This record gives sequence, C-alpha cells and structure tokens, in this order.
Amino acid sequence: MLTLLPAVAAAGAGGTPAVIAHRGASGYLPEHTLEAYARAIDMGADFIEPDLVFTKDGVLVARHNRWLSLSTDVADRPEFADRRVIKPGKAEPDWYAEDFTFAELRTLRARQAFPGRSKTDDGTFLIPRLEEILELARDARVGVYPEAKAPAALAALGHDFAEPLLDALGRYGFGPGGLPVFIQSFDPGFLRSLRNRTRIPLMMLVYGVAGSESVSLDQAAEFADGVAPAKALLIDPQGADTGYVRRAHELGLLVHPYTFRDDLVGTGFADIDAELRAFLALGIDGLFTDFPDTAVAVRGAR
Ligand code: G3P
Ligand code: CA
Repeated sequence: MLTLLPAVAAAGAGGTPAVIAHRGASGYLPEHTLEAYARAIDMGADFIEPDLVFTKDGVLVARHNRWLSLSTDVADRPEFADRRVIKPGKAEPDWYAEDFTFAELRTLRARQAFPGRSKTDDGTFLIPRLEEILELARDARVGVYPEAKAPAALAALGHDFAEPLLDALGRYGFGPGGLPVFIQSFDPGFLRSLRNRTRIPLMMLVYGVAGSESVSLDQAAEFADGVAPAKALLIDPQGADTGYVRRAHELGLLVHPYTFRDDLVGTGFADIDAELRAFLALGIDGLFTDFPDTAVAVRGAR
C-alpha cells in the first residue's frame, strides 16, 4: 500500500466519497466534450474523467474508443471515407483517431453514443484535447481522472502515454501538493511502468465478476493506490456484499467502482438511488457515474 497523497486524502479517501463524472455528464450530453465536462462540474462532480487516445500527430484527445464511428459524425464525412479500416480487436471497419491529425479531428463533431439518450446536441461539440480539459478543471478547481486507453497497442504505434500525460498534468498543476488527480488504466503493465515515475495516485481498473477478476487485489496492491472495479465485484447478483471493499481497504487500496447510470440501473435494485445507497453503504471511496447530479444528491442525503 502506498501512502496516500494529501490531494488524494482530500478527494474521497476515508472522507466523503468522490463523485467522478464518467466521460463528463455523459448521461445528458455527448461524452468526452468540454460541454459534458462543464455540465458535470456545474452538477458538483469532484472529478471529471477523460478517456484518452492519441491522434496521428501525437496529441492526447478525449475519446472512449480509438475508433470514432459511434461517438462522432465521421461516417457522414465523405472526405474521410478512405480512412475507414479494419484493425485488430474490431471485426467491423471503422475510423481510428490515430489515423487523423488533431486538426482533422477538430473538423468532426461529437454524438451521443449511448442508446436512448438525447441526441439534441449531436453535431455541435468538438473533440477536446487533454490540455483544454485540464484548463477547464483547473479553472473550476476540480480533479481530473484520466484513463490511458490501450497503452500497449498505442505504444506499438509509437505513442507512449507516460511523458505527454505526466507533463501536461504537471503543467496544469495536477498532482502532489496541487489539484487532485488519479491516473487509471486496465493495463497493469502500464501502471507498473508509471509507479517509479510519479507520485500521482494510480488506480487499477478491474473487470470481471467475483472470483474471476482481471487483476487481483494483491497484484494491484504491488503498484497501485487503489482499484476501480466493475460494480459486480462488490455486490453479487443476489445483492450480497462480496467483501471486496473490506479486503481492498485491508490492503490500503481505495475503491472507486464503475459505472452508475440512472437509465441502466444494476440488476436487483429498485432504482438508481437504491443502487447508489447500497454501494455507498459498503464504504466505497468514490464512484463513476454518467449522472453526477444524482450521485451528489444521494451522497448528500445519507
Ligand atoms: O474508467 C472507468 C470506466 O470508465 C471503465 O470503463 O469502458 O467506461 O472506460 P470504460
Ligand atoms: Ca474510463
């Protein structure tokens, strides 16, 4: 277990659980846009979460996937028809951020990627670069929670996250003694590589179900300050506490489960308020939600 930094201690560890706006207030606005992040801040989120990928010219931009067809209007842009390709990991051809310069990406417009949500704002918002997001968060005095997406695959393309990510966070005042920040990834090797390069708290994303986690708590405790587990690892399908939070805390690990959604409530819960209350009752240190306003309200009503 690594000593928690003052910034982290003020950001949910052992105190008030942090509300982490998952892709911004993505329940209301197209994800990973400055508008969605700003809406989350207005709703009282403690952190905004940018998933990060690279452009061809090495700019870190906020997208959940490297491929663009779901969250942008690229498929309607004939000027980019020749960029549609098939790459490992996705059977269908698509357009990939790493095949576009940042300037080209800026000609695209964001779309609501989640089914059933308002598409009123589709075609309006731009794809932001990391520096813009950091400036927004810094000026609002809220934390950031960047996720390095597919670090190994992007490194194979010549794009390493560590240098540009740590440099940008430092330049905008996020980190030890500054504004709160967590760096997260599904790739344990990537987080291990960061451990000796920064004192910024590292969060190991964990998927799976109880008993078959992608990374064990003992493994995470070797290099991370906490885990960001899928909800299913904390409460089983019968609604029982799996003991995951207790075991993580015994190892000195923070616990930030993902993802809470008002329009996709977890199995067995009457509504999102009941689900949030159940997870908060486990003693979690924060949570990822598409609807930060709801989480702030339920947290406050405890
Ligand atoms: O980073 C927390 C959560 O967002 C992980 O899943 O696929 O939504 O990035 P994903
Ligand atoms: Ca994420």
